[in-house]
Amino acid sequence: MGVPTGRDGANSKIIPAPSASTDLAEGRRLRRVGLTATGGYVPDRILSNQDLEALVDTSDEWIVSRTGMRERRIVAPGEAASDLAVKAAERALEDSQLEAKDIELIIVATVTPDAICPPTACFVQEKLGVGPAAGFDISVACSGFANALSIGHNLIASGAFGNALVIGVDVLSAITDYQDRESCILFGDGAGAVVLEPEPGKGIILDHLLGIDGSGAEMIIVPAGGSRKPASHETVEAREHFLKLNGRQVFRFAVSKMREIVVELTKRNGMTVDDVDLFVPHQANLRIIESAAEKLNISEDRILVNIQKTGNTSAASIPMALDEAVRTNRLEPGNLVCTVAFGGGLSWGASLVRW
Ligand code: UT7
Repeated sequence: MGVPTGRDGANSKIIPAPSASTDLAEGRRLRRVGLTATGGYVPDRILSNQDLEALVDTSDEWIVSRTGMRERRIVAPGEAASDLAVKAAERALEDSQLEAKDIELIIVATVTPDAICPPTACFVQEKLGVGPAAGFDISVACSGFANALSIGHNLIASGAFGNALVIGVDVLSAITDYQDRESCILFGDGAGAVVLEPEPGKGIILDHLLGIDGSGAEMIIVPAGGSRKPASHETVEAREHFLKLNGRQVFRFAVSKMREIVVELTKRNGMTVDDVDLFVPHQANLRIIESAAEKLNISEDRILVNIQKTGNTSAASIPMALDEAVRTNRLEPGNLVCTVAFGGGLSWGASLVRW
């Protein structure tokens, strides 16, 4: 299977570079796919830098200067990923021509599902009244939405489904150790959703570049609660059910990987970084975004940044930022959008969308 190079339709490492007349084994043709609506949601409760000063040895000045974050949103007790996902999905559906009952496929990217089993997609399906539909969760940490978007795109392009609701949601506060000052200042909760349909749509999805590198698996990890180390009194006492982070190493990886994949993705689509009108990066740290932007020679006005009020919302970060770009009229027809994510795995993913 060749390196994907398509500019105008479905592609990824799964499906060969498309053309309007590509025939699949089943005799179906690849269709172009539009991103027809977006929605975002954050819970009401604000966790400010001042609130964090009361929890750990930190300061508003340190957090702002090292991360760009001023506040983040945190769920209320009992509120879970599917609750946020449903709100974001409702907002996306309001802006689309579809009703919940018309949705054929739900993909939820999350590392903080309502429960280990069943998939959060099932809770979303039931609460939204979607279907009959197919659905599943995927877990690729902060790169989850990029992977979910690629899967949804390709499943619609192939004709397997007529539309999809693709959601990125995380409740990182559920796995954050509020005694660990290096990580607890970073994370917030939220959800973002997009509706995908065969074109015409608002944004035509062009291409995705995805990857993982398990040699960095320990850099961002929740050590206990999985099959390697099931939850026990001991693991809870050792606080191993919380996310552990090597922030400094991730920082270095993130800057170089963001630069690398943006260059590669634009190049293989016959474009350059200068052709991109708006970058929508994963909101992990303002300094990571600024360093990557400097290496890519991208000016501030071409980057969507909302980290000051959201913190790092993991899989929700990119769809929430994309929704903000839409609702604040940052996008005009014809604009080229590049989303770019990195995170636990290590993992990464970038997408190109022609608005
Ligand atoms: O989305 C993927 C997941 N996200 C990430 O992996 C985050 C990526 N990394 C980062 O955002 C940054 O590395 C951090 C914000 C986590 C840390 O910033 P840094 O500039 O890399 O700081 P550092 O780790 O080099 O620490 C500098 C100092 C240390 O003290 P010493 O050793 O110089 O005395 C830390 O102990 O800052 C100290 N420090 C803090 N001080 C006040 C670490 N966290 C805090 C804190 N408040 N919250």
